[in-house]
Amino acid sequence: MTILGIETSCDETAAAVLTDERNILSNVVLSQTIHYEYGGVVPELASRAHIKTLIPIIRESLARAGVGLSDLDAVAVTFGPGLVGSLLVGLSVAKALAYARNIDFIGVNHIEGHLFANFLEHKYLKPPLVHLIVSGGHTRLIHQPEMGHYQLLGQTLDDAAGESFDKVAKMLGIGYPGGPRIDRLSEEGDERYVDFPRAYMGKNSLDFSFSGLKTAVLNYLQPLPAERIREHLADIAASFQAAAVEVLVEKSFRAARESGVEVLAVAGGVACNRRLRRELLSRAGREGVAVHFPSPLLCTDNAAMIAAAGSFHLEQGDRSPLDLNAVANLDMRPAPVV
Ligand code: KG4
Ligand code: ZN
Repeated sequence: MTILGIETSCDETAAAVLTDERNILSNVVLSQTIHYEYGGVVPELASRAHIKTLIPIIRESLARAGVGLSDLDAVAVTFGPGLVGSLLVGLSVAKALAYARNIDFIGVNHIEGHLFANFLEHKYLKPPLVHLIVSGGHTRLIHQPEMGHYQLLGQTLDDAAGESFDKVAKMLGIGYPGGPRIDRLSEEGDERYVDFPRAYMGKNSLDFSFSGLKTAVLNYLQPLPAERIREHLADIAASFQAAAVEVLVEKSFRAARESGVEVLAVAGGVACNRRLRRELLSRAGREGVAVHFPSPLLCTDNAAMIAAAGSFHLEQGDRSPLDLNAVANLDMRPAPVV
């Protein structure tokens, strides 16, 4: 089976071609740079950019895979969660392709897509395991007892982890997207320079909150002269990053312990973060938990992970109806099937 994956839930326009063994034939991702000057994603601009670039990106992914439209057996597309206008662009193109070529059509939950990035990267990986999904839009701990079954253990009650990196970077004046910039800058900084609060939300909670940390950084910066901030930029960034990462690491291992699993899989844009990777790996042995990450291209939004999740559902015999709609605030539910 040759499957085309399409992802347009936020500010990446992406298409990928996989075969049923989950072999990636091509994985093309275009990150929209139009939002940089606004310091965050502007939904209307995102949908317009998807309209302009999605067809050329699909053509490019087919060309790189060495296949034509007539070789496709199925198309998988993100139907939520995400920006509704952006989701509709991908969905409309995917439905049109499926209808015109008379091939199988499956909607994919974007979060489930992120989970599949680890299955794509590590072919031997299988449940039971706990996933930490950390991106610009989501922070979720999910227990997966078996393929296709998910139990939400905890999630952010306010900002997502990546969103807090982006907002703090904006306060520090180091630009957008903030995650990779804070990551790089922190390597030269002293993480003990400021003792920012760690929000644990109660002893037993697996939920997260990052808005208090963001406000703490804002309150810390406000009275400081600009010169002092410039001088200690790396120290402040490193102190923020240490606070954010500590909570993610603590709760991930607690989730694994409480679920009785020995494998932790981390995905989403923030899974690229070097400190998060180092801290998780350095504690893995002591905790008796194996920690896995996808390579950076599969951590951030991409269509290979969508095609992989779609291919799993198609193998289960699922097909989505062609009237499938976008669901902006989708929870862990898979797409409806016919
Ligand atoms: O998964 P993703 O591409 O899109 C969403 O589904 O949101 O994640 C993007 C997020 C952004 O907030 C970005 O700042 C963050 O991931 N990010 C990072 C790093 N690379 C990307 N955050 C921390 N450290 C990084 N190295
Ligand atoms: Zn994502």
